[in-house]
Amino acid sequence: MELVFATGNSNKVAEIQQLVPSVVKLLSLKEINCSEEIPETQPAIEGNASQKAFYVYENYGQNCFADDTGLEVEALDGRPGVYSARYAGEEKNADLNMDKILAELDGVSNRKARFKTVISLVMDGKEQQFEGVVNGVILHEKKGGKGFGYDPIFQPDGYSKSFAEMGLEEKNKISHRAIAVNKLVEYLKQLR
Ligand code: IMP
Repeated sequence: MELVFATGNSNKVAEIQQLVPSVVKLLSLKEINCSEEIPETQPAIEGNASQKAFYVYENYGQNCFADDTGLEVEALDGRPGVYSARYAGEEKNADLNMDKILAELDGVSNRKARFKTVISLVMDGKEQQFEGVVNGVILHEKKGGKGFGYDPIFQPDGYSKSFAEMGLEEKNKISHRAIAVNKLVEYLKQLR
């Protein structure tokens, strides 16, 4: 069974291919000759994941899944959420994005935040969603040099280090993305 993963990142495809049953052959967007930018214009993470997966299904006639992730800060009413990548501007600069959050939370004692990943799977026109959440706090300053995005300012509950101080293996055991991917993989395993 062929399944498109609607991402431009071939490392992500290879990583998930290792986890899915071998009867499932994952295809990247490149492999289906989809080179245009897929619209992500919805006001929520769920909607964006859905929009991307349905775009591929409708325009390329292939079953597909797509993911979308956001950081939700409680004291900021859930922002940056769906705008996580471009919170401080269209240049999508991770440092500036973090600086903006740290400034907005200056003097704010409620530091609670969570990462949320939603995967939308569209098979034969029907959608199924899988969610992964990791709760934590926004630190007062950046810590650590690993990872990407908001990792240096996010500390998951139960840990005394930021995501950026963890190795990939450690982060992947508890991350929002890993939780959502595991749910997708379990679902694909029981399909046959
Ligand atoms: P995407 O939907 O995976 O492209 O994620 C959107 C944005 O959320 C990224 O550009 C990052 O700013 C942020 N983000 C997603 N996943 C992570 C993560 O695991 N750590 C830190 N930031 C993340």
